[in-house]
Amino acid sequence: MVEEVLCTGSSDARPHLATFAEMLCDLFRDPPFNFDWRYGDHDDPSSALGFLSLLESEGATFWHIPGEDGAIASFAFGIVLTQRIIEALGLANFEGTTHPQVGDYYCAGAATAKPYRKRGYFSHLAERRLDDARAKGCRRVWVRTHTQCGIVRHTYGDNRGFEIAGTYTANQGSGTMTSVMMYRDLVEC
Ligand SMILES: CC(C)(COP(=O)(O)OP(=O)(O)OC[C@H]1O[C@@H](n2cnc3c(N)ncnc32)[C@H](O)[C@@H]1OP(=O)(O)O)[C@@H](O)C(=O)NCCC(=O)NCCS
Repeated sequence: MVEEVLCTGSSDARPHLATFAEMLCDLFRDPPFNFDWRYGDHDDPSSALGFLSLLESEGATFWHIPGEDGAIASFAFGIVLTQRIIEALGLANFEGTTHPQVGDYYCAGAATAKPYRKRGYFSHLAERRLDDARAKGCRRVWVRTHTQCGIVRHTYGDNRGFEIAGTYTANQGSGTMTSVMMYRDLVEC
């Protein structure tokens, strides 16, 4: 049984943003991402801390799984898309078979620290975000990842029925990434 900590508002999430930002800088350095995130500050959305602060200010929910000695083993965050977030993430330029819309849910980021990998933490936090999307009445959930990130494609595509809407290359604070956009409808039409 995985015990996670849920941060639903700024007073809950704010104290952890600095650690999450450090983890973004550290854990996305490896292939296939090869990101060069700057830690940055709250006011700079192109930095790791600013990116998280922007999401937090637009209502994102954050979860983390505690590790040993006060460390964070794994964390993830999701958000109901606003126009501001669609533009900030470069999602407005995506042209696929379908595209993210205001009110859809977006799994905005996740990482597991290396000593805690392959324990099911990422899968657990994927489920939490799907639950959050359902609770908030979202019709659709989106995930963006590097085209070569097989773990994410497997976790959402093979295990949770997400479909591919297309691929695209976009600039973001951490660098340029060729992404695959995956989605799942939560409401049967
Ligand atoms: C991707 C990442 C979050 C996975 O974290 P994790 O907690 O180890 O993942 P889980 O243990 O929940 O495993 C999820 C699934 O991927 C599989 N998996 C995990 N690591 C794997 C690996 N190295 N090779 C192959 N499959 C792997 C698991 O077997 C599991 O599938 P299953 O349920 O069918 O058995 C972690 O590797 C990471 O932080 N990577 C760097 C940052 C990143 O890629 N974040 C996601 C960006 S969108």
